[in-house]
Amino acid sequence: MEERAVKRVLLTGATGYIGSHTWVALKAAGFEVVGLDDFSNSSPQVLGRLAELMGETPVFVQGDVNDGAALDALFAAHAIDAVVHFAAFKAVGESTAQPLKYYANNIGGLVTVHQAMARAGVKHFVFSSSATVYGEPQFLPYTEAHPLAAMNVYGRTKLMGEQILRDAEAADPALKVAYLRYFNPVGAHESGRIGEDPRGVPNNLMPYVTQVAVGRRERLGVFGGDYDTHDGTGVRDYLHVMDLAEGHVAAVSYLLREQQSLTVNLGTGQGISVLDLVKAFERASGRPIPYDIAPRRPGDLPAFWADATLARERLGWQASRSLDQMCADSWRWQQANPQGFEG
Ligand code: WQD
Repeated sequence: MEERAVKRVLLTGATGYIGSHTWVALKAAGFEVVGLDDFSNSSPQVLGRLAELMGETPVFVQGDVNDGAALDALFAAHAIDAVVHFAAFKAVGESTAQPLKYYANNIGGLVTVHQAMARAGVKHFVFSSSATVYGEPQFLPYTEAHPLAAMNVYGRTKLMGEQILRDAEAADPALKVAYLRYFNPVGAHESGRIGEDPRGVPNNLMPYVTQVAVGRRERLGVFGGDYDTHDGTGVRDYLHVMDLAEGHVAAVSYLLREQQSLTVNLGTGQGISVLDLVKAFERASGRPIPYDIAPRRPGDLPAFWADATLARERLGWQASRSLDQMCADSWRWQQANPQGFEG
C-alpha cells in the first residue's frame, strides 16, 4: 500500500467529551479525521461546534461500534491509518447496576471494532484505558508497573479490554496498540464551544461544580471529609482535557512512526483534593460553590495520582495546563452553555 502523506484517523465515540477535544487536536496537528458515534451519550450539536472550530464540515458517520457491517462500510469508504477508540460507557455506579450493558458495549464494541480492523488491514490502535485498572494503591504515585486489579464493572471492562488487546497483539504482531491510562480529565477547549456535558446528575466532580456555579444545582456534596489526606477530602490527578487530547495525538504519531506498542499513564503527576479544586474554581469563576460534607461514596479510593514519567520519555508528552486553566476553561464552557449542547 502506498504511503499516504496525510494520515487519517478514525475516532469512535467522536462526539463525546474526550473524543471531540481529540478531534480538534488531531486536525490542528495536520491529521485527517473520520468521526463515528451513535449519540448514545453525546449530542449531535457537537458536530456544528466542531465545524466552527475547524472551519470545515466534519467527516462523520453515525453508527454503533457493535455494528460490524457499518464498520466495514466505513473502512471501505475511508482509508484509515489508525483508530482511537473512545466509544464506551464510563459511569462506575451505573456499571454496577447494569453490568451486561457495560460488557456488551465496552467489550463487545472493542472486539467488533478489532474484527473490522482485521478485515480492513488496519494495524494501529489507541485504547482509552483508565487509572481505575490499578485498583487499591500498593504504592503511589501509580507507575505503569503497578499491579492491576479493577474494583468495579467499569474498571473490569477496561482491564479486560487491555487483556483482550494483548492477546490480539500476540496473535498478530503487526498490530500496534497504545494503552493510555487516563487519570481525571477536566476542563474544556479554550473557546468555550465544546466541553463536558453529562446527561442527568453529573457523577464526576468538575461538571457538578460547574452546574452549581451556573445555578443548575444548589450545593455540592463532598463525598467524605475524613480521608487520610491533607484536608480530609479525596485526592485525584486532574488533567486538562486538551492536554489529554494532545496525548492522543502524540500516541497516534508514536505508533505510526515507531511501529511499537506502549502503555502509559496520562496524568499531571500532582494530587489535588476536592476542596483544593473547589477553591481553585471559586477563584477562577468568581462564583461561590456552597458545599456540604456528605458520606463517603462506596468504592471511592482516598487518594491516587500518576507517575507520568514514561509518557514524557516515550511520547515526549507532558501535561502543561494548570489547575487554574482547567477551572477557567470549564467555567467559560458552562457559563456560555448553561444547559449544555441541547440548551
Ligand atoms: C473525583 C473526586 C469523589 C463527585 C471516575 C472513574 C474514572 C473516570 C473518572 C471514566 C472523588 C469526589 C465527586 C461529587 C465529590 N471515569 N466527588 N462529589 O471517581 O476519581 O473517577 O471518573 O473514565 O475511571 O472512576 O472521579 O470526578 O467521580 O470523583 O466529592 O459530586 O471527587 O469522591 O474524591 P473518580 P470523580
